Amino acid sequence: MRNGRALNHNLSFSKALLCTSRSYGSKGEGIKAKLEKVIPQQRDYFLGIKCLHGTTNIGTIPVNSVMGGMRGLPLLICLTSSLHPTKGIFYRGMPIKEVCAKLPRVKKGSSEGTPEGAFYFLTTGCMPTKEEAQDVTNEWNKRGKVPPFCLKMLDALDKKIHPMAQLSAASACLNMNSKFVEAYTKGAKRADYWKYIYEDSMNLIAMLPTVAAIIYTNVFKGGKGCRELNKDQDWSGNYSTMLGLPDDDFIDLMRLYMVIHADHESGNVSAHASHLVGSALADPFLCFSASMCGLAGPLHGLANQEVLVWLTKLRKAIGDDPSDDEIKKFIDDTLKGGQVVPGYGHAVLRDTDPRFTVQNEFAMKHCKDDPGVKLVTRLWKIVPEVLKKLGKVANPFPNVDAHSGVLLQHYCLMEMNYYTVLFGVSRALGVLAQLIWSRALGYPIERPKSISASDLCAFIRKADEGKDKKKKC
Ligand SMILES: CC(C)(COP(=O)(O)OP(=O)(O)OC[C@H]1O[C@@H](n2cnc3c(N)ncnc32)[C@H](O)[C@@H]1OP(=O)(O)O)[C@@H](O)C(=O)NCCC(=O)NCCS
Repeated sequence: MRNGRALNHNLSFSKALLCTSRSYGSKGEGIKAKLEKVIPQQRDYFLGIKCLHGTTNIGTIPVNSVMGGMRGLPLLICLTSSLHPTKGIFYRGMPIKEVCAKLPRVKKGSSEGTPEGAFYFLTTGCMPTKEEAQDVTNEWNKRGKVPPFCLKMLDALDKKIHPMAQLSAASACLNMNSKFVEAYTKGAKRADYWKYIYEDSMNLIAMLPTVAAIIYTNVFKGGKGCRELNKDQDWSGNYSTMLGLPDDDFIDLMRLYMVIHADHESGNVSAHASHLVGSALADPFLCFSASMCGLAGPLHGLANQEVLVWLTKLRKAIGDDPSDDEIKKFIDDTLKGGQVVPGYGHAVLRDTDPRFTVQNEFAMKHCKDDPGVKLVTRLWKIVPEVLKKLGKVANPFPNVDAHSGVLLQHYCLMEMNYYTVLFGVSRALGVLAQLIWSRALGYPIERPKSISASDLCAFIRKADEGKDKKKKC
């Protein structure tokens, strides 16, 4: 049977290769018309390869991993954080819940540790004292003035440009003042690169709250809003105030939000994009810009927006206090419509995301009677029951995105298509801490080898022949 399958496949290999290497379809056709003919064939062909030869190795790597987004391959080293399927995210070996509990509370009356402390911890591996975390705040307040050329560019952007595209553009333009570019041009030593990457990273992080708040006020508030950092505020306090939301509890939520969204190993799209671009020795402004382009994808950072859209539909359809059966029916209808339940599932996690749990604990403390919070808490019990019944969902439990939106809405941050910017501001801490270490350790330019369709065919033939020989022996 196996031989028969391999033979059939070898035949279709030749056919598929013909399609790619010779003219296909009638002469005089445009590119799109040709592609419309070739693509369905090639899709079937590659799907066939995955089905029949997914577990065949190319060298030591299974075809399934090569064709499946490089899943499961330990190809990167990340010093700042690690992800465990059931225990969740660890910063420097410490579970996120413990990190949240141990980070110093710098502001009087604050219930949450600061992202400044988290950045110190991610970067150095040492939990900062209150004074050390405060020093980071002071440093960011000193460095946080956004240069006029960037302000001018932000104000000139069409308000219809997505906030994430604006964030990426702003970061890219800030590379005009890159210390790394300046030092590299003057011939800095390779061993010293990290020092300039550190300077740029600190400057960029310091400017991000102002940049992100300007995007918000320009797009949603007619350009009116404060653009100056208050030296007495911390990073989250300044950001919240510039968003026009100076409530103490909201600032605490921002501290928590910025800490828990900061880092997620280095294989996720935003971190990997920054790592890849940085490996070519692009400066941190360009790396973060690339990272934000990845975060803007709906399978990555945009999911928090999707959750809220779904919850809004649910509340509109069955009200704020529906029965369990009504909720189950709504979930079934979502699935029958061919959609996923947003905020549930994960590529690596196999249990409730601890970042969901810490947000729920915050909600229970500050706003447990909020209808959105109540609903999200109930869904936490109901959705997994329904998803488990499908029998195919690897992780039926909630991820970080299932909770964040209702908390933001509770504090009147209503504009859903801005939510990924908040995520991005936080993610800067992780990806830039990683970047400093990538240059410190002198990681080389990233250059995975790609193989052609005929190489793939040759590998599979060889593997099949090997198996047949073994059988005969
Ligand atoms: C996060 C996600 C992209 C992970 O994808 P993945 O690793 O391929 O997930 P799985 O291995 O569990 O997928 C197996 C099947 O379960 C389905 N599935 C996974 N999560 C699901 C969900 N929340 N609702 C319905 N079906 C889901 C997948 O679509 C897939 O179905 P298919 O075989 O018909 O294509 C996926 O769980 C998802 O789409 N979740 C909703 C979006 C979301 O919350 N994203 C934010 C992630 S932090």
